[in-house]
Amino acid sequence: MMDTQRTYRIAAIPGDGIGQEVIPAGLDVLAAAAERDGGFKFQVETFDWGSERFLARGAMMPEGGLDRLRGFDAIYFGSAGDPRVPDHLSLWGLRLAICQPLDLYANVRPARLLPGVRSPLRAGTASNLDWVIVRENSEGEYAGAGGRVHRGLAQEVGLDVSVFTRDGVDRIQRFALELARRRPAKRLTLVTKSNAQRHGMVLWDEVFEEVRQDFPDIATDKMLVDAMTTRMVLDPASLDTIVATNLHADVLSDLAAALTGSIGIAPTANLDPARRAPSMFEPIHGSAFDIMGKGIANPIGAFWSGVMLLEHLGEGAAAKALMTAIEQVTGRGEVLPRDLGGTAATQAVTDAVRAALAGKNI
Ligand code: IPM
Ligand code: MG
Repeated sequence: MMDTQRTYRIAAIPGDGIGQEVIPAGLDVLAAAAERDGGFKFQVETFDWGSERFLARGAMMPEGGLDRLRGFDAIYFGSAGDPRVPDHLSLWGLRLAICQPLDLYANVRPARLLPGVRSPLRAGTASNLDWVIVRENSEGEYAGAGGRVHRGLAQEVGLDVSVFTRDGVDRIQRFALELARRRPAKRLTLVTKSNAQRHGMVLWDEVFEEVRQDFPDIATDKMLVDAMTTRMVLDPASLDTIVATNLHADVLSDLAAALTGSIGIAPTANLDPARRAPSMFEPIHGSAFDIMGKGIANPIGAFWSGVMLLEHLGEGAAAKALMTAIEQVTGRGEVLPRDLGGTAATQAVTDAVRAALAGKNI
């Protein structure tokens, strides 16, 4: 029989800490989702890049590593961060060393209260919390521009210069408006700090005035980032799609994860919407060294990132099935990881999601 299955090549980079535990778990449920679907399969290559490699050989990833990634359909990433390596070296040596040159400029972070998960918000307030935060992922405060001079002297200077370009702002705002258009509420909130930061943030405001004219069907509003934190807590249902700079959205997405129960479930897609390069999918929780090696990490952030990976590959039915399986497991509440109030190990949560995928109710 001829092999008519679609095949996707996945580069898996578990990286540091619990990335080593949740990425294998995620690959398991992705394989199960493919098997259930029957129309496609994965070919996975795993890379041992990360802080262990840095300590042994002086670099998080090998020379030419980036070019090896280009041929894949997607990258499935765990985390980068190790107490033995300065954080800025592990970050710039791996995650940013991939996302920046591949120009994965749209970072997408859904936040939704899953069935059976409790929010720290007042009862009832969070039940209809359903947001997507779009984080500018290529410039802004993470552009890497700046420097240190007069090291060690009293007059030492450290500069981190935020870089905002009209092109960079235009493309992320358009991306967010298009994403808002695909959601039922068709609402987008622009977040800046243009009262205090009077150059780049005012550019964001001005570009937004122009770009939103092309999206008359989307209801838009604007918030300053400080006031936004209050609105997220006090009036979550008033928000839908949100677009913000690299740093602002970094902070807001941690808040969003906490409001939806735990950072352990929150997913991310680092997208090249133009599809010139493979996009990268990762849980946002980081390496969590305090619980690594114990087999108790919550794999749901990695699973939900897997859902986003499937969506990006155009496997919408499999994405929906995997999301439903995750929601069935959290909704039943029998097999929950510790951060969601249960006692289940990573493997038990993985088995439960696989069983749900194989079940008749999906
Ligand atoms: C995230 C993380 C990273 C970031 C850290 C690990 C550097 O917090 O993906 O949100 O700030 O981008
Ligand atoms: Mg963060």
